[in-house]
Amino acid sequence: MKLTPFIDPLPIPQYLTPLERHKCFTYYEIGMKEFFHEFHSELAPTKIWGYEGQFPGPLVNVNSGECAHVKWKNELPEQHFLPIDRTLHGSSEHMPDVRTVVHLHGAEVEPESDGHPEAWFTNNYHTVGAVFDSPVYKYNNNQRAATLWYHDHAVGITRLNVYAGLVGMYIIRDEEERKLNLPSGAYEIPLIIADRGFNEDGSLFYSDTTNVRPGPVQPGLTFPHPSVTPGEAFENITVNGKVWPFLEVEPRKYRFRILNASNERFYKMNLSNGQKIIQIGSDGGLLETPAYMDELTIAPAERMDVIIDFSKLAPDDTIVLENTAATPFDFAPPVGALPDPETDGQIMQFRVVELTAPDTSNLPAILSHIPKLRECDAAQTRDITLDADIDEYGRLKFLFNNKGFMERIDFKPQLNDTEIWRIINTAGATHPIHIHLIQFQILDRIPFDAQGFTANGLLNFTGPPVKPPVNERGWKDVVQSPPGFVTRVIMRFAPFTGRYMLHCHILEHEDHDMMRQFEVVERKCGCKTNCTCKEHKPKRKCECKKNCTCQGKCTCKKSCTCKKKKSNHPSKKERHHKKCPTCPPCSETYRCECE
Ligand code: C2O
Ligand code: CU
Ligand code: CU
Repeated sequence: MKLTPFIDPLPIPQYLTPLERHKCFTYYEIGMKEFFHEFHSELAPTKIWGYEGQFPGPLVNVNSGECAHVKWKNELPEQHFLPIDRTLHGSSEHMPDVRTVVHLHGAEVEPESDGHPEAWFTNNYHTVGAVFDSPVYKYNNNQRAATLWYHDHAVGITRLNVYAGLVGMYIIRDEEERKLNLPSGAYEIPLIIADRGFNEDGSLFYSDTTNVRPGPVQPGLTFPHPSVTPGEAFENITVNGKVWPFLEVEPRKYRFRILNASNERFYKMNLSNGQKIIQIGSDGGLLETPAYMDELTIAPAERMDVIIDFSKLAPDDTIVLENTAATPFDFAPPVGALPDPETDGQIMQFRVVELTAPDTSNLPAILSHIPKLRECDAAQTRDITLDADIDEYGRLKFLFNNKGFMERIDFKPQLNDTEIWRIINTAGATHPIHIHLIQFQILDRIPFDAQGFTANGLLNFTGPPVKPPVNERGWKDVVQSPPGFVTRVIMRFAPFTGRYMLHCHILEHEDHDMMRQFEVVERKCGCKTNCTCKEHKPKRKCECKKNCTCQGKCTCKKSCTCKKKKSNHPSKKERHHKKCPTCPPCSETYRCECE
């Protein structure tokens, strides 16, 4: 069924208001609900799931440093309406169909609040996964202004839960950014892009079978039904929950926070009048300087904060945000299908109307300062190979270092260490690789002999390193890792210890074992110094030769300053690993104490 483009206005997600405002934290509850949603005025309403019964979910808006506690509630039915593949890890008959867990993508959070795939819970927490801790997640938001997003992360069915609609945007703001006077208020608009397929009756379409057979046909071997596929892309492009919407814009500057919330699809975006898109921010917040781009390639889970200046246009002019990315993206040699200019080749339309008031916003030439992580500071370099494999049913399957999700944790960076990770892609397509907990910087992409590497394990570079384009020279948490390239990223592991995920953000790959865990461990340091924290600093200096930043354990007894009754405070036991918020070395692992 072909839907008419540009006949529905772009919906704008609303901000969520906190249920309670305490002295040192705000409290939210966000429920996941099943409901009917109108994707397009020519389409019957579609049963989907969404946070607070909305798709996309409500915008969460916080200030940097503000502590937000969110109670995530599963209010969904017992049965899934999308096809569950029982052969995937964590997805067997014994597992409840409708399990959910929420990850705040891009946030620096303690492991208990990070949405571990096995921390899932069912309706009313009736059944919970092995590492479930608490229904209330704590977000310190101790990071610079950035566009994050929250989405489902349940083991084995993330692709289905996200496709069903469990996504939303989360915005952190700060003073540095406010001072810039970028377009704001009605002129700052989120654009959450996701492709969807529909059946004739308006219901959501998702494949329950696969026909991709990478190896020779083995007698007696059949694909399970339902089966995961190597990736799912659909012809209808939705923005903020509408298929090919339009937006009326005034001839002035607008700020758009673009998120690609699609399962598999990349978009190569350009404006139909040839005008440049000005990127001002990436996953982890503002770039140093605006990047003037003819086109922008956005992978699943990436965010691009952009300015579009419509001031040269006149009322009644229209521009289309177009897409030219093949799906699957960037195979070598190309086997992906190019988009149809009539359907998935377009994303949305801008219609220029009269100016209502002069544009007083700015686009400064300098946006921010980004301290460069230096290669010489790296304590370690680790290699991650992206491998194409065949599973026990003869299906194509992608892995990291030829290992599955639950295999032994090999990567154990020490707290505060800087490391370089080399992502060695022998797996045919561009994979968007996401690392939890931290924001990284992209060093370069170096072409290498992938066939030789697969055959004999020798890493031979075939050309000079390619520096990232200007719009990728900021903080990132997802990196496009093209085939035939070693993509190098650098990051510092802080501020928490514990287990986190590393995975491909093509959700069909993630569910089919293209995910590993890493564990940030306490720094091992020979020094015996104990912090006694009289003056909020250790009495003695650490004597080890290394640039040790551990200052021993803080034992200071600083009490909570909030006005709550004693009885409401956490018990000693609960407080035990928590540390004083004002003691600088210890604030690294500060967790909010005000319950
Ligand atoms: Cu956006 Cu682990 O995911
Ligand atoms: Cu994440
Ligand atoms: Cu992948």
